[in-house]
Amino acid sequence: MNIMRHSTTAMVALLIATTATAQKTPAYLDPSADIETRVEDALKRMTTEEKVRIIHAQSKFSSAGVPRLGIPDFWTDDGPHGVRPDVLWDEWEQAGQTNDSCVAFPALSCLAATYNVELAHLYGVSLAEEALYRGKDMILGPGVNICRTPLGGRNFEYMGEDPWLTSRMAVEYIKGLQSKGVSACVKHFCLNNDEENRFTVNVKVSDRALREIYLPAFEAAVKEGGAWGIMGAYNLYQDQHLCHNKRTLMDILKGEWGFDGVVVSDWGGTHSTDEAVKNGLDMEFGSWTNGLTHGASNAYDNYYLANPYLAGLRKGRYSTAELDDKARRVLRLFFRTSMRTDRGHGSMCSEAHYAAARQIAAEGIVLLQNKRNALPIDPRMTGKVLVVGENAIKMMTVGGGSSSLKVQHEISPLDGMIAALGREKVDFARGYVGDTTGNYNGVTTGQDLSDRRSPAELIAEAVSKAEDADAVVIFGGLNKSDYQDCEGHDRQTYSLPYGQDELVSALAKAHKRVIFVCISGNPVAMPWANDVEAIVEGWYLGSETGNALADVLTGAVNPSGKLPFTWPVKLEDVGAHALGTYPGTRREGSDIVDEEYEDGIYVGYRWADKHGIKPLFAFGHGLSYTTFKLSGARRTDDGAGGKATFSVTVTNTGKTEGAEVVKLFIRKADDGMDHPLRELKDFKKVRLAPGESKTVELSYEGGVSAWSIE
Ligand code: GLC
Repeated sequence: MNIMRHSTTAMVALLIATTATAQKTPAYLDPSADIETRVEDALKRMTTEEKVRIIHAQSKFSSAGVPRLGIPDFWTDDGPHGVRPDVLWDEWEQAGQTNDSCVAFPALSCLAATYNVELAHLYGVSLAEEALYRGKDMILGPGVNICRTPLGGRNFEYMGEDPWLTSRMAVEYIKGLQSKGVSACVKHFCLNNDEENRFTVNVKVSDRALREIYLPAFEAAVKEGGAWGIMGAYNLYQDQHLCHNKRTLMDILKGEWGFDGVVVSDWGGTHSTDEAVKNGLDMEFGSWTNGLTHGASNAYDNYYLANPYLAGLRKGRYSTAELDDKARRVLRLFFRTSMRTDRGHGSMCSEAHYAAARQIAAEGIVLLQNKRNALPIDPRMTGKVLVVGENAIKMMTVGGGSSSLKVQHEISPLDGMIAALGREKVDFARGYVGDTTGNYNGVTTGQDLSDRRSPAELIAEAVSKAEDADAVVIFGGLNKSDYQDCEGHDRQTYSLPYGQDELVSALAKAHKRVIFVCISGNPVAMPWANDVEAIVEGWYLGSETGNALADVLTGAVNPSGKLPFTWPVKLEDVGAHALGTYPGTRREGSDIVDEEYEDGIYVGYRWADKHGIKPLFAFGHGLSYTTFKLSGARRTDDGAGGKATFSVTVTNTGKTEGAEVVKLFIRKADDGMDHPLRELKDFKKVRLAPGESKTVELSYEGGVSAWSIE
């Protein structure tokens, strides 16, 4: 009997096993299988045509999956500050959906100014949840290019002039984003520091400056952030386009750094099938095919990595080795994102996301000057506040290029001040008329900012109204229009546009408590800085702009932002302008513009320190409504090891709770090479109650010849 039972059992077990085998889930569909197993299993099931189809776009923002194998299409979307509204399949115009109004988070220049890596992580998580809800697998961000000129059109999208600050913030943003199964696409790799001539500028830069200034944030994104995507840049380096540049993509990114993710072209950044095949491009987006023999415009099968590549494979011009590498990387991206079954559905426009946007915004606002404690404005005041300026009412979430958004709401500075103080305490004067338009890619603000009055009339109105005000708060600065803080062009002057200087000077003469809030992504010239009481850098803060600004201006939030870039007095104080190398020189008989980064490693405060130039406001500068004292700064290691460690005590010597950023600057050890006097190599943000002290540890992996804690 036993034998019978055993044999029956064995037969049943065999039957189950066979049945199970017959229905066994293929490895590539098994979420419990490791990713590399799934990649290899999917790859071996795919045809050459299917492999080619997944490495180039099929629409404006999507690329194909493998329908036959149940691998879904892959969806990307802009941008670094929020999830862009959907456009038509093959047009930049709006799809006209009514379910894609998002939360606009503050621009990354503001995030950098928080010097708070925990907020960077929160930012990434929040943005990923909005992306998931919108069915997006990859966010085209963060932008981590270094700001080397205050004219940079996209500096508002980047995180300042210092590689260490940019690296720390980018790593946590990426980790937050990818923790939810949404891929980052860190951009624009690399040397994409100008918008002027962005498609044709050929950057010439020393290897040292490349390694010490322009690559570190990308290297940290890959090695520490674990970025799954990198976006090539439009421009050229060593005469080769950066979307298929052998040195940067094959030798450095994939070779030295071991990047296992996907290189995505910038939209329209691909120019050659041969180079794209051989130099490491893995996903081609946004090409125009009228450069190819087919002449069809934007026909996806005519992309450089589409039919031309397929034809080359069939003719034996290309081996399948590169194709399999590209397909593996794209499949790996799928299994990290779209093929996951545990990502959930995210959320959009949640209270948590608005709270995060407001917190990041308020913590990034920088109090630059505050004479006679002009700020904060006490909400219990009995008098009036006069709010002045177009930037008090103009929506800034629309415009600026690809980071433009369609928001569920955007609280203006004026509305924020009214909400905080009460309508009866707030008066408004236009002050100046700048750009009254408000649309991008078919998204319109719906605002009517038209005003036919002359500058003189507008200034006269503001001066007249100021007579009845206890304080005058001017919201000026730049905006997201062409030649301002906007993709595609750089600014053409360091000065404020639209006659703002005259307005500020007139109000400074007429009133003793004038506060200027600069809404911008860049520094600007301030010839009247000594004539006003307070100056605030207000950034582009997104949906919660007005609330965050009012929080800080009324003291509900004690400002703790610090500048992520140097604020020069004049443009000539900046290396690229002092040396006259920006924006470069057009090559004879060519559309190529050669730009030599002659300032080398001396970018931003490194240049100012080297040349003894006093900026209007220094890198890392930012005031508080309380005061802090640093004491007992000392080096705590014996200098023998490779790591230098330091300690300092921070005390809140004022009457208000506040946060201080403690920064370690070092000068590298003498090794025969010239080194900047100071380089930021660590920072910590500490929150202290009045009278409270904390000891902060800081460190640097390397030799040090001098150090300071600021
Ligand atoms: C743009 C930008 C890039 C953006 C892409 C898609 O031209 O350079 O940052 O993500 O195209 O809109």
